[in-house]
Amino acid sequence: MTIERTFSIVKPNAVAKNVIGAIFNRFETAGFKIIATKMLHLTKEQAEGFYAEHKDRPFFNGLVEFMTSGPVVVSVLEGENAVQRHRDLMGATNPSNALAGTLRADYADSFTENATHGSDSTDSAAREITYFFGEGEICPRTR
Ligand code: PPS
Repeated sequence: MTIERTFSIVKPNAVAKNVIGAIFNRFETAGFKIIATKMLHLTKEQAEGFYAEHKDRPFFNGLVEFMTSGPVVVSVLEGENAVQRHRDLMGATNPSNALAGTLRADYADSFTENATHGSDSTDSAAREITYFFGEGEICPRTR
């Protein structure tokens, strides 16, 4: 059993739909422990830094504009094989390809406004968690 941490963003369109609690419920029902969370309104600089690896992609400016359009909820999830299981729960990045019952099938509005973000590897998770959370903001759970 590999206990991992992964990083989640409930994106502005999902916050606007009032489904933060519904999404957290899906995390908890799937066995994840939420060990850190906070609501933020990202600055342009924060969003550009977070998505820096995509800075030369045609969708970059639209992605930054969307991610700064309203508040987001950033969280750290802990659980068995958390990175892959969280991605499975979210569904495909393009919601047209997202399987029924996934978060993106239920809450995405478009490829850009796709409701949630999740780390794509344990290395990305470590980088993304550090980008938003200090060690003192993370609360490891023993039960
Ligand atoms: S890729 O194409 O494999 O590099 O894409 P990926 O790493 O899965 O995610 C890219 C992030 O950019 C967001 N985004 C888009 N991707 C592709 N095409 C378009 N048009 C687009 N618009 C936005 C996509 O939702 C991914 O965001 P995150 O937050 O990482 O899920």
